[in-house]
Amino acid sequence: MAEIIDGKKIAANVKAEVRAEVEKLKAAGAKPGLAVVLVGNNPASRVYVSNKEKDCAECGFASYEYALPEETTEAELLELVEKLNSDETVDGILVQLPLPKQICEQTILHAISPEKDVDAFHPENVGRIMIGDYRFLPCTPAGVIEMLDAMQIDVSGKHCVVIGRSNIVGKPMGMLLLHRNGTVTICHSRTKDLAEQTKQADILVAAVGRAGFVTKDMVKPGAVVIDVGMNRNAEGKLVGDVCYDEVAEIASAITPVPGGVGPMTRAILMRNTLTAAKAHRASLD
Ligand code: GUN
Repeated sequence: MAEIIDGKKIAANVKAEVRAEVEKLKAAGAKPGLAVVLVGNNPASRVYVSNKEKDCAECGFASYEYALPEETTEAELLELVEKLNSDETVDGILVQLPLPKQICEQTILHAISPEKDVDAFHPENVGRIMIGDYRFLPCTPAGVIEMLDAMQIDVSGKHCVVIGRSNIVGKPMGMLLLHRNGTVTICHSRTKDLAEQTKQADILVAAVGRAGFVTKDMVKPGAVVIDVGMNRNAEGKLVGDVCYDEVAEIASAITPVPGGVGPMTRAILMRNTLTAAKAHRASLD
């Protein structure tokens, strides 16, 4: 049976480290804070945003929530982003995705000051990640790397297969694994004979967004399996992309859902906010 990778516990350690650093900043007179912008009524987004507020409180950050109506225009949201960019009390800015269809996500993400872009979605930050000279790492992929480190799973020389090529997870995940000297394959909906690829993986990362997508026959015995999926099944229960019970029988280590990657994403957001706050404070000195 696979070892269970306890994302909650590893995330708690990361947040404790962040909290200690935030306390030092506060003792020096700073009041580090994160602005979180939610547009519309997407129920999943509301849960994510309220979790971020809890995380901020736990780590000692101020959190500034902006909840805007579904019909907000792109110009209105841009105006808010500009205001937050120049607000000295705000160290990090996160605009929760997805945005309502009248707003172009690219336009908004490009408008966020790269220094406050704690998601690392601005093209400048994306480019910096590509060349390994980064301010922030994207939260979910960095959370996965943090978990592998905590479990002392060495990536170097391993065949890493990522299923999914999104800008938020799949692509940067491949890049971070490459930075750790993994041999990386990124698979997607057009990949021919997907199972043939996934069965090569020493480390398999599933970021597909489909419940039960990865079955036992797609996994090499002894592989490390990381499940980034957050799906609701027919009963409304939160499940990952991996058929957990059957894959856990043959994997060497596996992340559960919930309690795996999700808490890590949240913890890295807090670490990124700390990084932003330190850089911001240094620029004011
Ligand atoms: N929506 C789903 N995941 C994310 C994320 O990591 N950041 C933001 N801003 N929105 C998201």
